[in-house]
Amino acid sequence: MTSRSVQELSMSGQEVPQNYIYKDSDGGSFDASLLLMEIPIVDMALLTSPSSSKQELEKLRSDLTSWGCFQAINHGIETELLDELRDVTRQFFALPEEKKQKYSREDGSLEGYGNDMILFENQTLDWIDRLYLTVSPDDQRQLKYWPETPETFREILHQYTKKIEVMTEVILKAMARSINLDENSFLDMHGEKATLFARFNFYPPCPRPDAILGLKPHADGSALTVLLQDKQVEGLQFLKDNQWYRVPIIPEALVVNIGDQIEIMSNGIFKSPTHRAVTNRESERISVVLFSTPNSDREIEPLDGLVDETRPRLYKKLKDYPSFFFQYYQRGERPIEAAKV
Ligand code: OGA
Ligand code: NI
Repeated sequence: MTSRSVQELSMSGQEVPQNYIYKDSDGGSFDASLLLMEIPIVDMALLTSPSSSKQELEKLRSDLTSWGCFQAINHGIETELLDELRDVTRQFFALPEEKKQKYSREDGSLEGYGNDMILFENQTLDWIDRLYLTVSPDDQRQLKYWPETPETFREILHQYTKKIEVMTEVILKAMARSINLDENSFLDMHGEKATLFARFNFYPPCPRPDAILGLKPHADGSALTVLLQDKQVEGLQFLKDNQWYRVPIIPEALVVNIGDQIEIMSNGIFKSPTHRAVTNRESERISVVLFSTPNSDREIEPLDGLVDETRPRLYKKLKDYPSFFFQYYQRGERPIEAAKV
């Protein structure tokens, strides 16, 4: 651990250290003048049913080329499981600090419990504590970081992981079909099985929501991201055409967004959207995020069918994208810039 948890900081009532504060925050408030236009909703049941899927595929393509994200409904994951996952997440972060520290991230490792990683001097810190775990394939799990309290944590995470694996495959196939590619085009670049990481985010109440962010603006280093929002407290925002949009809470929905690696594979057709999490003065907020990514030894590049004279190749061939993600993230820069030809 680099320093005390943000939760302890939040509860101490002390003045916030300067390195959390944005000096040039959006003219004063991260909540100012947000448009009420909502991010698209995609009915997953329609994506899988052949009869009605043509129209829905076209909607998916248009949502993902314009927004890069959507709220997925009718995804087939039981509401009970989503609620249980939210419950065990809250229960884990409610444990006394010394219990959580048993799962602390070690230097040089991404996995485990901790707060924002400090890589540079003058870095503005995120108002967040989190737990980061590799969840799939099963043999890559490092169980020493998996909480044993609450007792059901591991089992619920296991069940949820299996469901998200299925869901991401359905989406990646539909995305490929929506741009007239073979349905396995994106999946084939993942290797035999995608790697999945889980990130449990905990945003304590924040005394300066006007000048402090829970997560700085970023695009995900994944191929595809599936996020379970808090049931009560909003906080996620996406950037579109230079304007920030709130993501309203739909308790039974999952928020899906494109990550940089699909932007690369699709040669820029699908955009990996910039997003951030704002903080809240009164309430704590949680989210559970699953990042699906190709195996670290797989090379990815724009798909053959998507490169031609009218659409020249935008990105280089590369592998293990998440390994250099944080060097850029902490500078507020986009790692995808490094992938451009
Ligand atoms: C992330 C992320 C947003 C949220 O973990 O990459 O964007 O609402 N989270 O927690
Ligand atoms: Ni993100």
